[in-house]
Amino acid sequence: MRIDIITVLPELLESPFNASILKRAIDKGLVEVHMHNLRDYTDKSYNQVDDYQYGGGAGMVLMIEPIDRCISALKNERDYDEIIYMTPDGKTLDQRMANSLSLMKNVMVLCGHYKGVDQRVRDRFITKEISIGDYVLSGGELGAAVLCDSIIRLIPGVLNNETSALTDTFQDNLLAPPVYTRPADYKGMKVPDVLLKGDFPKIEKWREDQAQARTEKLRPDLLE
Ligand code: ADE
Repeated sequence: MRIDIITVLPELLESPFNASILKRAIDKGLVEVHMHNLRDYTDKSYNQVDDYQYGGGAGMVLMIEPIDRCISALKNERDYDEIIYMTPDGKTLDQRMANSLSLMKNVMVLCGHYKGVDQRVRDRFITKEISIGDYVLSGGELGAAVLCDSIIRLIPGVLNNETSALTDTFQDNLLAPPVYTRPADYKGMKVPDVLLKGDFPKIEKWREDQAQARTEKLRPDLLE
C-alpha cells in the first residue's frame, strides 16, 4: 500500500511514522508513506498557500492552485483508490472504514488548515471526507496520523500473532475483554482464576462473555 499525505506542516507528521508499529511496517516495505509539502507547489512569494475568504470572515483558506498542482502531479504518476480530505465535517472514522481503506493500493490524504480548503478542491478532487471525531483540531495532520495508524496496523504482516488486529476492540462490534499479566496476585488484587488454569475453550468462552458484558455496560450503542 502507498499513502501520500499533502500538508503544510510535514514536520508535525514525522514522529508518528518514525516509531513502533508504523515504522516497522515502513521498514518491512509493507507500506510506503510519502509527505508532500504544499508550499513546494506554490509560485506565490513567501511560499503563500492560503488567502482571505471571499465575502469576508475570520480565518484563512487554503487556495486551490497549489493543491491542484500537487494532486495532479501525483495522479499523473498512478491511479488513486481514494483522495481523502481530513475535516471535522467529514464522516466519522470507525473500524469498518479503517478495514476497508486497509485493502486499498494507493490512497492520498489532504490535510486542511486554518478555515479549511477552497470548496472547489472538495468538489473537484476529493472522493472521501473523514473526521476523527466531533471536535475541531488546528489542522488535519493529527487526524491523518490517527487515520494512517488505524489503517496500517491492519495490513497483513504488519502485526505479528501476539498483536493480531483480529482480537481488537470493535472488530466484532464488541469491546475487547480485559487483559492481565504477571503477577497473578498484586497486593490482594487477583487475576481471574479461569485465566490461570490453561483450559483454553473455557478461557475463550470467558473472554466472549466478558466482551459482551463490557460492551453492554460501556457501549450499548454498538449492539444496536
Ligand atoms: N481537522 C480539524 N478537525 C478535524 C477532525 N476532527 N477530524 C479530522 N480532521 C480535522
